[in-house]
Amino acid sequence: MKYRVALIGCGRISAKHIEAYLANSNDIELAGLCDLIIERAEEKASLYRKQIPDAKLKIYTDHRLMLDELKPDFVTIASETGYHPQISIDSIESGSHVIVEKPMALSTSDALRMIEVSRKAGKKLAVCYQNRFNTASRKLYNAIYANRFGRILHGMIQVRWNRNTEYYKQAPWRGTWELDGGTLMNQCSHGIDLLHWTMGGNVRSVYGATRRYLKPIEAEDFGSAIVEFDTGAVGIIEGTADVFPKNLSENLSIFGEKGTVVLGGLAVNKIETWRFADSETLGETEAEMIKQSEEDPPTVYGFGHTPLFADFIGALRENRDPLVTGEEGYRSVQTILAIYQSTKEGRRVEMPVDFDTRRMSGFFKS
Ligand SMILES: NC(=O)c1ccc[n+]([C@@H]2O[C@H](COP(=O)([O-])OP(=O)(O)OC[C@H]3O[C@@H](n4cnc5c(N)ncnc54)[C@H](O)[C@@H]3O)[C@@H](O)[C@H]2O)c1
Repeated sequence: MKYRVALIGCGRISAKHIEAYLANSNDIELAGLCDLIIERAEEKASLYRKQIPDAKLKIYTDHRLMLDELKPDFVTIASETGYHPQISIDSIESGSHVIVEKPMALSTSDALRMIEVSRKAGKKLAVCYQNRFNTASRKLYNAIYANRFGRILHGMIQVRWNRNTEYYKQAPWRGTWELDGGTLMNQCSHGIDLLHWTMGGNVRSVYGATRRYLKPIEAEDFGSAIVEFDTGAVGIIEGTADVFPKNLSENLSIFGEKGTVVLGGLAVNKIETWRFADSETLGETEAEMIKQSEEDPPTVYGFGHTPLFADFIGALRENRDPLVTGEEGYRSVQTILAIYQSTKEGRRVEMPVDFDTRRMSGFFKS
C-alpha cells in the first residue's frame, strides 16, 4: 500500500520535498500540490512528472480545499514559518499526518498547541531537521548513545554563513519577526537542534546576545548564547549570516571526559576530529572515520530530506514516533526564543519560557 502525500508551499525548499517523494516512491505517491502562487505548484508538479509522467496530481491554491478533497494520508508543509502552526493544525484536524519544515513555529505557545493537537488526534507530527540524518551526525549520535564520551562537559555549535541582501529581497518575509525571525531561528535552528540532540538532558537556562549588524532586516543577523543544561554541561551557540565574503562552515563540537568530536564542512557534513579513549580497543582510527563520513552536498540543505521522509513512512507503517517529533522540534524553538527574551531583557532566563518572536518587534533600531 502506498501512502498519498500532498505538498503545501511550493517555494525554494520544496524541490527537496519533491526529491524525497521520488526517492521514496515505492512507499508514497504525490496526490496534490498547493501554493498561493499557482505557477509555483505547477512548476513542482512538472518536476515530479519528469520521473513519474502518468502521476495523477491535482493542483490547488487553497490548502483547506485540497485537504477536504484529497484527504491525503500525510502532508509536508513548506510555507513561510509563521504559517506553519495554522496549516499544520488544519491538516491534522482534517485527518492527515504532518511533516513540517523547520522551525516548527515562532512562539512557544504555537509549538505546544501543534504538539497537543497532533497527540490528541493520534496524528504524527515530524519536523524537518534533516541534518540529523547526515552520516557524520549519525555516527556522533551513535557514539553518544553507546556512552563513549563518558560525561559530556561542553558542546558548541558555530554556524558561520553568509546570506546576501539579494536573499532577503527574494522573499520579503525573510528576517521579519512576524514570519521568520533572524539567523538563529532560520539558518541556525538545524545546528541548535543538533546541539540539543547530542548534548543530552534539558536546557535549564540561557544567556543570549544578538545583534543586527549588516542586513536590511528586522531581526538579528548575528546571535550568540551560553546555554546551561540540567546535566551540568554548557552549550555555546554562535550563528551569523554576515561572514565575509561567503559561507564558511557549520561546526558542531562535543567535548566529553573520554572523547572529542568535531563535525564540520559547510553544514555539519564531515567529521573533522574523532578521538575516543576506546578507539584503539575498537580498532577504529580517526583517519578512517573522517573518510567514512565525507558527504559533499551541493547546497547547505544536504541529503537529509529523503531519509527523514523514509523514517516518517516507517513511523506510519510501524505506528511509532518519527525521529524528530514535535516535542523534539520544540526544544530548539524554545531555546532560540529564550535567547531572544534574554537579549531583550538583558538577563539570563530560566526555562520554561513563554515567548514569541513578535515580542521582539522594533527591538533593533535602525
Ligand atoms: N530544511 C531546510 O534545510 C530548509 C531550508 C530552507 C527553508 N526551510 C524552511 O522552509 C520554509 C519555506 O522556506 P522557503 O525558502 O522555501 O520559502 P519560499 O518563500 O520560497 O516558499 C514558501 C511558499 O509557501 C507558499 N505559501 C504560503 N502560505 C501558503 C498556503 N496557505 N498554502 C499554500 N502555499 C502557501 C508561498 O506562496 C511560497 O511560495 C521556511 O519555514 C524555512 O525556514 C527549510
